Amino acid sequence: MSSVLNADTIKGKINKNIYGHFSEHLGRCIYEGIWVGEDSPIPNTNGIRNDVVDALKQIRVPVLRWPGGCFADEYHWKDGIGPRENRKRMINTHWGGVVENNHFGTHEFMELCAQIGCEPYINGNVGSGTVQEMSEWVEYLTFGGVSPMAELREENGREQPWSVTYFGVGNENWGCGGNMRPEYYADLYRQYQTYVRNYGDNRIHRIACGPNSDDYNWMDVLMREAARYMDSITLHYYTVPGTWGNKGPATGFSREEWFTTLEKALFMDELITKHSTIMDKYDPDQRIGLIVDEWGTWYDVEPGTNPGFLYQQNSLRDALVAGLTLNIFHKHCNRVRMANIAQTINVLQAVILTEGEKIALTPTYHVFDMYKVHQDAELLDLNLESGTYSAFGRSIPEVTGTASRDAEGKIHISLCNLNDESASTVTIDLRGISAASLTVTGTTLTSEELDAHNTFEQPDRIAPKPFDAFKTDGTHLVVELPSKSVTVLELV
Ligand code: AHR
Repeated sequence: MSSVLNADTIKGKINKNIYGHFSEHLGRCIYEGIWVGEDSPIPNTNGIRNDVVDALKQIRVPVLRWPGGCFADEYHWKDGIGPRENRKRMINTHWGGVVENNHFGTHEFMELCAQIGCEPYINGNVGSGTVQEMSEWVEYLTFGGVSPMAELREENGREQPWSVTYFGVGNENWGCGGNMRPEYYADLYRQYQTYVRNYGDNRIHRIACGPNSDDYNWMDVLMREAARYMDSITLHYYTVPGTWGNKGPATGFSREEWFTTLEKALFMDELITKHSTIMDKYDPDQRIGLIVDEWGTWYDVEPGTNPGFLYQQNSLRDALVAGLTLNIFHKHCNRVRMANIAQTINVLQAVILTEGEKIALTPTYHVFDMYKVHQDAELLDLNLESGTYSAFGRSIPEVTGTASRDAEGKIHISLCNLNDESASTVTIDLRGISAASLTVTGTTLTSEELDAHNTFEQPDRIAPKPFDAFKTDGTHLVVELPSKSVTVLELV
């Protein structure tokens, strides 16, 4: 079985924003995970922990979505500005019923983005907020002239407006964001976005709330009624191995749960294909982007933790989910222009876990680190032929992979072997490049145990290793992928 890489055929550009993140006021994501306050003994800059910022810079986080999630449609941004000691305390009703003291607000979020060097993606409130409130937030953020909101911003210590491109008009308005019907939300979207203004040189990319998973009717109605008013539309899909009532544990799971998780994660491909077909009907020139701004695994919370905090461990299985999902996004890069894994720290498929001053990078983090070479690279035509991975009376592809060429001309191939029992040999016929003069290097992430994970005591139990199980014969690259592994090759 031979695969083919046509290195002279460019299929699209992998928008770096596919490597985006999502951080909500949920559990220990914002508070403790990011914000510790200026007086904390945990080393911080302006209240934001340094170790987390350093780790996020390392994986080149391009864009960060905030403040939710479900929290976004309950969030009133004026509660989070001004002197911190005067800010309102409220209940975070969605997530754990804990007190939200609003110490992390607009200024702190923009400071976080500046420290990471990423773009902000702000999600406005449609479910319980007003048109005026949303409009004033954009004015506060981006208006540089004389106006009530610009003056308020200056009073709070920020004279210059910020630059904000990505602005979401509501979140999950089919559910926690107001339980709306698509026709109703489409009308509200048209109304609210009218007052999301472009001030000065700032150009807002308006993002409509899209469907939950396979709700194709929601996509159809939104595109039919509101396509001309949006720049992008979202899609949310979580990989839940069991049922919502009994999702399954993050570690200590069975082989069948491994298989089912990967099978369900692969469903993202079908979802994007079908939603793209609907979008093509109304937007044949592909002006509008599809933003998968919530994706990742969702398991039962770790025993003994607040069920509303969604804290879960992260194992080799999550690394495979990340690797195969990013490969799917690459494949659809002409429509998928941004994606935001849920969520950055201590929540769901986190890239970082913290406990007090301790920090652990998860296997998912390592995949984002290994794959960052694809950011803004040209997607190349890779026709991958691999066997099937059959178990429990079902079959899925054994290997998924994509290839890209970066600005320096280096080619990167990312390959996931989903099979937990056997290595997989991939033979790639290299066309459009001279294989004879190639230098190939590689990195792989794998382990003996299905649920290998990092802890605060053993933070490096699973980490990427140099990989050299490949050979070239002048026209072919033959790679021996270990079982249950994520591998990235560089061809120079
Ligand atoms: O990411 C957790 C929650 O999942 C978000 O708040 C919501 O948008 C989704 O249902």
